[in-house]
Amino acid sequence: MCGIVGIVGQAPVAPLIVDALKRLEYRGYDSAGVATLDKGKLDRRRAEGKLVNLERRLGDDPLGGTIGIGHTRWATHGVPNEANAHPHFAEDVAVVHNGIIENFSELRDELKADGVVFSSQTDTEVVAHLVARELKNGASAQDAAFEALKRLRGAFALAIMFRGEEDLIVGARNGPPLAVGHGDGEMYLGSDAIALAPFTNAITYLEDGDWVAVRRGGMEIFDMAGQPVERARQQSVGTSLLVDKGNHRHFMEKEIHEQPEMISHTLAHYLDFAGGTVADFALPFDFAKIERLAISACGTAYLAGLIGKYWLERYARLPVDIDIASEFRYREMPLPDNSAALFISQSGETADTLASLRYCRGEGIPITAIVNVRESTIARESDGIFPTLAGPEIGVASTKAFTCQLSVLAALTLKAAKARGTISAEEEKALVRQLSEAPRYASQALKLSSGIEKVARELSHVRHVLYLGRDTNYPLALEGALKLKEISYIHAEGYAAGELKHGPIALIDEQMPVIVIAPHDRIFEKTVSNMQEVAARGGRIVLVTDEKGARNATLDTLETIVLPDVPEFVAPIVYALPIQMLAYHTAVIMGTDVDQPRNLAKSVTVE
Ligand code: F6R
Repeated sequence: MCGIVGIVGQAPVAPLIVDALKRLEYRGYDSAGVATLDKGKLDRRRAEGKLVNLERRLGDDPLGGTIGIGHTRWATHGVPNEANAHPHFAEDVAVVHNGIIENFSELRDELKADGVVFSSQTDTEVVAHLVARELKNGASAQDAAFEALKRLRGAFALAIMFRGEEDLIVGARNGPPLAVGHGDGEMYLGSDAIALAPFTNAITYLEDGDWVAVRRGGMEIFDMAGQPVERARQQSVGTSLLVDKGNHRHFMEKEIHEQPEMISHTLAHYLDFAGGTVADFALPFDFAKIERLAISACGTAYLAGLIGKYWLERYARLPVDIDIASEFRYREMPLPDNSAALFISQSGETADTLASLRYCRGEGIPITAIVNVRESTIARESDGIFPTLAGPEIGVASTKAFTCQLSVLAALTLKAAKARGTISAEEEKALVRQLSEAPRYASQALKLSSGIEKVARELSHVRHVLYLGRDTNYPLALEGALKLKEISYIHAEGYAAGELKHGPIALIDEQMPVIVIAPHDRIFEKTVSNMQEVAARGGRIVLVTDEKGARNATLDTLETIVLPDVPEFVAPIVYALPIQMLAYHTAVIMGTDVDQPRNLAKSVTVE
């Protein structure tokens, strides 16, 4: 989604803003722009496409000035062209915006009736004109911004700059995140702490309904009644981490390879390996006393939750309701008193997941979240958080966040099972030992590259792919299909293998590769029967299994990807890796933009 940067500085800011925007690239965007104020002149450069185009524009025609705002745009209202790129101007006002102004057409009609001529198709431009109108009516810059903010409905993070005000940027937040960075004689605004990392790690996060006046000497935050409010200044952890690709071609490749280490860090946070027990971490509810757990998330995080459901129900005998957050938020699910909620989100900012959380808050049940970004809104609004220790995930397609979410869910399963008395101390010890081996198995899985590349070459020629799995391999089949379609643009579907003959079998022919995820587990034989059905219809099978599975499958495959034999409990964490690698290599062969696939955003802050 869109990224925002603002700097009230000492040196020329345009190159600094571009640098900060590069750190927001991972969020997904399709055009970008910068505006500065230089000796009373408000000017901007904007470009369609990637930031290199904006840099080229700035190289040909530089912008001076020590105050400026910048933006990467992920199109919502209006095509991604230069005219719709931010910053938007209206007379003495420049605005950048992340989110959607829901009442923009009503406001645009009102402004048009006042004689305003619009130069873009965006919802954002109304904000610039509203502020400009207040200025014309004699309001101060700060008051003009405040008056305009009062008129807006919807989700927004905004940064507003004014000709004649060389020491003021107004920021506002209602939904999408906005952070203020504290420097030495300089101040910053950014969509997240990563954007501001080169400048400062002293951060203040705005809360919903806050707006801020940022000046070189400091900042003042107000609420929507215009009253000053205090928000804590914190040291951001994200800023200490270098966000680069290392020796890898893409962030996604780097993040796939980081998994053994990140899974290990995450597991070590929740498990006492030496003692063979789950660690003594705090929970805002007692697993022994709740009767239901409602899990809600989006995309890959939802699929992690689905695997969590299998685990929690099997090992802890805890009934779990799991929903896609965009459905949950509107379906008015009754939540009895003895239930609790768990939200899963890498970014901690996903609008639908946050709305679901707020629904549960209204229902009065305890709220927990598995998040990767600890300073995120979802983290801050939860009663208890379970951080994933994955480090910043930059590739749009989630990889290491997913396996770290699974690691947390596995630990929570043990915690719940122990509290509910469904596993013995010996079983707990055995399962902790199995989990402690997950990083080693994951490292072994990373060595499978060559077989996977061979399959990827095949996939790069086809239009459709089917993924099948049973039990926890079913969510993995869904995840495999999601990963493949989002970065290679090949149409892929994931199905529960047993569901094959209820419809999807009609799709099978010689053109259709079918990827079957089937370690040699309790229900391996059942999945083999489904593979026979595929083979009988000429379908080309890629079997992802272990050594025992490969020996017992006894049917011709296009390729068999053989993983180490791993215990059933840890298999989803390990089997995620070949699934990710397959999508990655296919996308690389096809030459797509792996880290920033078309139309996708990393942090989905609108619904
Ligand atoms: C897919 C992917 C998305 C996210 C989803 C939720 O690879 O990354 O499906 O999982 O947008 O995002 P978070 O976890 O930030 O809430």
